[in-house]
Amino acid sequence: MKKSVVTIDGPAGAGKTTVSRMLADRLGYRYIDTGALYRVIALAVHEGGIDSKDDAALEKMCAALSLRYVLTEKGPRLLSNGRDVTDRLRTPEITMLASAVSARPAVRHFLLDVQRAMGREKGAVFEGRDMGTVVFPDADDKFYLEAPGKIRAMRRFLELRPKTKLTFEEVERDLLRRDRNDSTRAEAPLKPAVDAIRIDSADLAPTEVVAVMLGHIEKMAEN
Ligand code: DC
Repeated sequence: MKKSVVTIDGPAGAGKTTVSRMLADRLGYRYIDTGALYRVIALAVHEGGIDSKDDAALEKMCAALSLRYVLTEKGPRLLSNGRDVTDRLRTPEITMLASAVSARPAVRHFLLDVQRAMGREKGAVFEGRDMGTVVFPDADDKFYLEAPGKIRAMRRFLELRPKTKLTFEEVERDLLRRDRNDSTRAEAPLKPAVDAIRIDSADLAPTEVVAVMLGHIEKMAEN
């Protein structure tokens, strides 16, 4: 089968990461978590004491940043100027800051080039918010994964529970705030591409979502 670029967009907690990893595995494709790229920028902003609204400072910072994915025994790791920062990206603080910096044009323009360079060699599943709309508008297979806010918040709560003391209400509030930020920003807001297949993951197991996606990909490859 000819290799393609697969895009999976959707709000936080819709199940994109689990499904993207499984799908990439089934297809023998690379898995690219683009949210992690925004998180690396947030970490650099945090560590550098940079004003997340200062586009000139962000542009300068990005110009000095080299981002690389490497596949190791521990799974995919993200290197920022050669330093493995993978384990620092999932704190609540970096999560919220990633949503803030992702609204800045300087950051989006920088990562647009980074992501397109990663997609030049096909055979990849890209997970994000604007993969099907902006970064890869010509992608062969586009999906938009969604689920009601309460369900997404509960999934995130269960995932975070061993690591934080946040209550369900706090997790839900942060998730809905992030959804609002991500879908109302001027640049590349979160929304389904017109030609994306929309899948509601509320009542589906990840394996069932992957089966729907594989069915579509195979059908497209026949045409
Ligand atoms: O998928 P995630 O939660 O790791 O993403 C972190 C933030 O990055 C999210 O709040 C929005 C932003 N993001 C984006 O704007 N565009 C993408 N393609 C991926 C993530």
